Parts: sequence; C-alpha cells; structure tokens
Amino acid sequence: MAVNVAVVGATGAVGEEFLRILESRKFPIKELKLLASKRSAGKKIKFCGIDYTVQELNRHSFQGIKIALFSAGSSVSKEYVPYAIESGAVCVDNSSAFRMDDDVPLVVPEVNPQDIAKHQGVIANPNCSTIQMVVALKPIHDVARIKRVIVSTYQAVSGAGLKAVDELQKETASILAGRTDFKRNLFPYQIAFNVLPQIPQSNAFLPNGYTSEEMKMVNETKKIMGDNSIRVTATTVRVPVVRGHSESVNVETEKKITASEVKKLLSKAPGVKLVDDPANQLYPLATMSAGKDEVFVGRIREDESIDKGINMWIVSDNIRKGAALNAIQIAEKLL
Ligand code: A2P
Repeated sequence: MAVNVAVVGATGAVGEEFLRILESRKFPIKELKLLASKRSAGKKIKFCGIDYTVQELNRHSFQGIKIALFSAGSSVSKEYVPYAIESGAVCVDNSSAFRMDDDVPLVVPEVNPQDIAKHQGVIANPNCSTIQMVVALKPIHDVARIKRVIVSTYQAVSGAGLKAVDELQKETASILAGRTDFKRNLFPYQIAFNVLPQIPQSNAFLPNGYTSEEMKMVNETKKIMGDNSIRVTATTVRVPVVRGHSESVNVETEKKITASEVKKLLSKAPGVKLVDDPANQLYPLATMSAGKDEVFVGRIREDESIDKGINMWIVSDNIRKGAALNAIQIAEKLL
C-alpha cells in the first residue's frame, strides 16, 4: 500500500541520499513532501523524473503524512517530531535527539528488528559509526558473547554534512595551489592532509574527556544489542575522506572463536560483505564502500595478546547504511 512520505532535511547530504534510495528501492510513495529550512524553500528537486518544490518546515507540514524521515539535526527533530506524531505520522529520526529515550526503539534492522514494534510514534536511527559496527558484531555476539570492544574510527567528512565536504575540497584545493589564506568555517583545524581526534567539530568534549561521538558508540551499542554488559571504549577520528567510515575494532569474547570461524560467520551474515584476502591485498576500503549498501569487513585476525580476541577492519558508506539506508530499511519494516 502506497503512503504519504515527508523528508525533513531534503536538501542535506542524508536527505539527498534518502531520495536516491527511496527511488531505487521503489518505496511505495503516494505523495512526497520535501521539507527544509526557509533558505531552501522554493528550490526544485527531482524525484522519479518529477520536479518537487522544497517547502519550509512548519508545525502543519505533516498533515496526511504516514511516514516522516527526519535528518535535519537534533534541535529540528526535538521541535518537530512531536508535531509529526500528533498528525499521525510515524517518524524515523536520524538525529541523536531521542536515541537513548527508554520508550524510543533504536534500530538496526539486521540486529534488532523486533524493537520496531515497540515504537510510540518515533524510531531512532543510530549513529553512523555504531550502525556499521553492530552489523558486524551481532553474529559474533550470538555465538561467542562479546565481553569488550575497543574501537578506533576513521570517519569521513560527509558525516558532518555537505558544508563539511565543501570545506575539505576547497581547503585541499587552496593548499595545493600554495595559498595560505583559506578561511575555515566548520572544522576547528585544517582537515585537508590532516587527522582530527575530535567528532563532532564543535562542543565535542564531555567532562569525562571523551567526545559525544565516542559516548554514542558506547551507549548505543549496548541498547541496540540489548546487552548492557558489553563494555565498549571508543576513539573517534575525522579523516580527509569524503565518504565511507572505517573502523579498527578489537573484540574480546567469553567463548573462544577463531578467525576462520568469524570469517565463516560473517560471510553469511545479513548486510555484511566479507572482503578478506590478504594474499591478494584485498580488504575493505572507504572508496569500495561509497554508494554501496553493505558493511564491508576484512583484516580478520586473532588478537594474539589475549586468549579470546579478534581484530577486524569494518568499513561502510556513512551516508547510506550509516544513515539513509538504515532509516529506509526501518520504514520498509514499518509498512
Ligand atoms: P537547508 O538546506 O535549507 O539549510 P546537512 O547535514 O547536509 O548540513 O543538511 C542539513 C539539512 O537540514 C538540510 O536539508 C537543511 O536545510 C536542513 N535544516 C537545517 N536547519 C533546518 C531548520 N531549522 N528547519 C528545517 N530544515 C533544516
């Protein structure tokens, strides 16, 4: 049955991807409403060959809407998700606004699809780095019970939006041209030819010394996996890559599991593509993941410093599985 769908943040990096995926997966849309800020009102966006006019988001935007996909930041979600619910829409929210609320399911369809049914009008889409990690961890956890995870991320700038991609490209061009007058707007330091151990780019640090992105990985992993006993520690890092987050992940398990058992498990795990052929220098890359749906996993090795540990390298398109695709998979399950 076709339904009326609204996309909030339709002009953003994730919004653009929402539209590409809705179109390619032939999501059953009766009417489509594209919403953004006042700045974009009137702008035309093509969807399935038809020009749609972007409208300014307001509290009445959701009349007749069945599914609202939100990706316009936390403050917009906090303000407008309640109006959408009041109008009878179910919201899939890509922001962090409601993720840790007890009555809001936080869902990765390959991991905890059963939680979708518990929603009360809003389902939260997890943080991009967390999504790709749990898709790969769940099959291991089911077999060997994961006790502890140590993760370091190498995150693409598109996670910070289209303006961040623009800043990386312009700064790179400026440095290559030998200029020294580039004016940064977003990142606290040069991101071109550099690596920043801070995500997000502003108000990142919490009193415990971790960044909010790092604590999202800790807390969201437990909630999605439905297991508060998993210990997680994270270091999240921005790298000058446009698209595709990479992660070095170390897991310690309760039960011994060998590297070849992990490879076998992941080779048939939903949403995972195993790319692990060191003899031929084959391993997951950000460039390999860009525009793809899968979570790519490789470099699987036993951690020789402990009895029961595994190291691996997990890569996925942060805008696709890390955001838009995961949200649309949730919406498909809702239908
Ligand atoms: P706009 O393009 O009109 O600013 P990104 O993550 O790529 O920066 O995109 C953010 C998205 O959220 C854009 O579509 C942006 O619209 C939208 N957005 C930002 N602030 C608001 C707001 N106050 N109301 C509605 N949409 C907003």
